[in-house]
Amino acid sequence: MFQGYDPAACVPDQQAYVDVAAPILDTYCNGCHSDPPAFGAPLPLTDYDALIAGIPGTRPVDRLAHRSSARTMPPPSSTQLPHTDLDSLVAWATCGEVHPSPDVGVSINAEVYQASVPDLIDLPTFDVVADDYRVERDTLDMYRCFAMDVPVDEERFIRRMQVVVDDARVLHHAVLAIDPDRVTEGRDEFTCFDFPYRETPFLYAWAPGTDAFDFEDGGLRIRPGDRIVVQIHYNNGAGVVGVRDRSGIRVFHGPVKGTEWFMRDLGPTGFDVPEGTSEACNETKVAEPMMLLAGMPHMHQLGVEMHQVVERRDGLFEPVFDLEGWNFESQRFYRYDRRLEKGDRLHTWCVYDNQTGAPSQYGEATTDEMCYHFAYVGSPP
Ligand code: HEC
Repeated sequence: MFQGYDPAACVPDQQAYVDVAAPILDTYCNGCHSDPPAFGAPLPLTDYDALIAGIPGTRPVDRLAHRSSARTMPPPSSTQLPHTDLDSLVAWATCGEVHPSPDVGVSINAEVYQASVPDLIDLPTFDVVADDYRVERDTLDMYRCFAMDVPVDEERFIRRMQVVVDDARVLHHAVLAIDPDRVTEGRDEFTCFDFPYRETPFLYAWAPGTDAFDFEDGGLRIRPGDRIVVQIHYNNGAGVVGVRDRSGIRVFHGPVKGTEWFMRDLGPTGFDVPEGTSEACNETKVAEPMMLLAGMPHMHQLGVEMHQVVERRDGLFEPVFDLEGWNFESQRFYRYDRRLEKGDRLHTWCVYDNQTGAPSQYGEATTDEMCYHFAYVGSPP
């Protein structure tokens, strides 16, 4: 079922069943998997003892972990689990050993950025990591930031970024941001739901399965005096006790040489997200030739689609990417390697489906919305 997972070694926690798993099962499963079951469902999923009874590997709890992480349950016509609930449910059912891939359901006509430059792993590094952060037994959806001064004494280029996994049972995703204006001054650890801040652009994002990001040429400039921040999303669905975590991102840096890449946030701001379906879009005029290396589409919870196209000066349109099935937990960098010319126009738009019963709008809080393509751009050689 899951690679390297031994169900015989796992008896899912009873208290976490009550606190975490049962509410999720009640919401998304037990309309059918009731006792007695309804609508053709073959078994109830309503009782802890029954869930864990049987031969490990074929217990109801094993089957529910398998079917929900394969996204073959609930049936397509029923309300689907948000990824954090899916993660909590599977974490509970597998004693925290397995993270379902956040990419299930996401479709995009661009390749996940992957580059491997062997020499980069020999470069000097520093880690931006949690400081032995205590994750409580009932911590769900906690966004915690850890910030520090960039430990370099001359300007350098970041050439590679990769995750440092300490306690995989609670680590849900991590993003790295740069803080040149030192807005995090004096705050080395804080809760940060509404991230990234305007002043602290993303450098890199990791979710289970994401590869390291290697720049084949050049990198991102860091300077002595900059701050650097990692935001970690913790989710202790399995109810693991006594976790202290030191996960984060490892930064590999080299001399300032080659293309300097910048992160630009392309996309509309200041828009409304009324109830029902709506769109937000904008247009960015390309002022000088540039390379669009890679980028990470970013919306919040109400986004369902995101698109970007280049309108060339001769009026032709070329897609950069079309993303459907947006999932907040699957924030990936995609590769474009595209040259943009002076006078081209980049159109960026997002589609929202707001069923919350209240209007939303552009903003930084998780209940607000965004429509950014965080793109690595640089000057062409
Ligand atoms: C709309 C009704 C419905 C909902 C909601 C639903 N199921 Fe099912 N489930 C079924 C039906 C019908 C079957 C039998 C057909 C099949 O296996 O696909 C089934 C089969 C299963 C099985 C296979 C049992 C076996 O014999 O191996 C598992 C496990 C399961 N569901 C888990 C879940 C979980 C977990 C959820 C919620 C995350 C869920 N289901 C939500 C209707 C539902």
